[in-house]
Amino acid sequence: MTENFYARWTTVYDRFARVPFVCSWRAAAADALELARGDTVVEMGCGTGANVPELRERVGSAGRVVGLDITAEMLRRAGEHADRTGPGVHYLRADASRPPISAADAVLATFVAGVFPDPAAAVDAWCDCVRPGGRVALLNFQRPESALTTLLNLAFEGFVRLSAPGSRLSGRSHADAFEQRVAAARRRLTERTVDRRYETFAGGYLGLVSGRVV
Ligand SMILES: C[S@@+](CC[C@H](N)C(=O)[O-])C[C@H]1O[C@@H](n2cnc3c(N)ncnc32)[C@H](O)[C@@H]1O
Repeated sequence: MTENFYARWTTVYDRFARVPFVCSWRAAAADALELARGDTVVEMGCGTGANVPELRERVGSAGRVVGLDITAEMLRRAGEHADRTGPGVHYLRADASRPPISAADAVLATFVAGVFPDPAAAVDAWCDCVRPGGRVALLNFQRPESALTTLLNLAFEGFVRLSAPGSRLSGRSHADAFEQRVAAARRRLTERTVDRRYETFAGGYLGLVSGRVV
């Protein structure tokens, strides 16, 4: 079901994945990993590889970027972009809740943590992939506490219904179900890491949480 959903939306995702303001969020997420030249960084649910240019720039030609995704069509599209392929970039079709990875220097997951039925278990698996001292970063949409919220939060509900397949399983507000999954992922990251950082973007509608695995 998840793969069919994302395969249908590949072209739309790909079109919006690197518009300028989204790229600035991607750069902030890559910065949160504190990558060094020669590092191996793994992206869970990499989609069409939109974070790869930022990651590759930071690990350099001696480093490796591994993009893992369950949707073959997303990975096929990633392979069509010259700036998201080349030496040191590898794509892998796999389930990010059971990633076949060990001893990576860092893990990134952007706009993904909210799709897993058990997000805490997924974050555990991601932390287990990283060597002690490496960082994990999660970037996700969220509803801010304050603001002119009623209208915008209605729009958020519609956005989540369209963009996250797992939300459809819930009879409650889709946005509530989505937020609960993101919150569960963040709680587990908090339990598994030290030296945590939290930043928000887009008027609070986007949150970046990162930490160092112990
Ligand atoms: C909203 S897109 C985000 C793509 C990318 N991270 C980005 O920032 O553009 C979510 C991606 O997660 C992938 N995905 C969903 N469930 C997955 C799973 N269990 N394992 C691996 N990838 C998964 C989908 O195929 C899709 O490419």
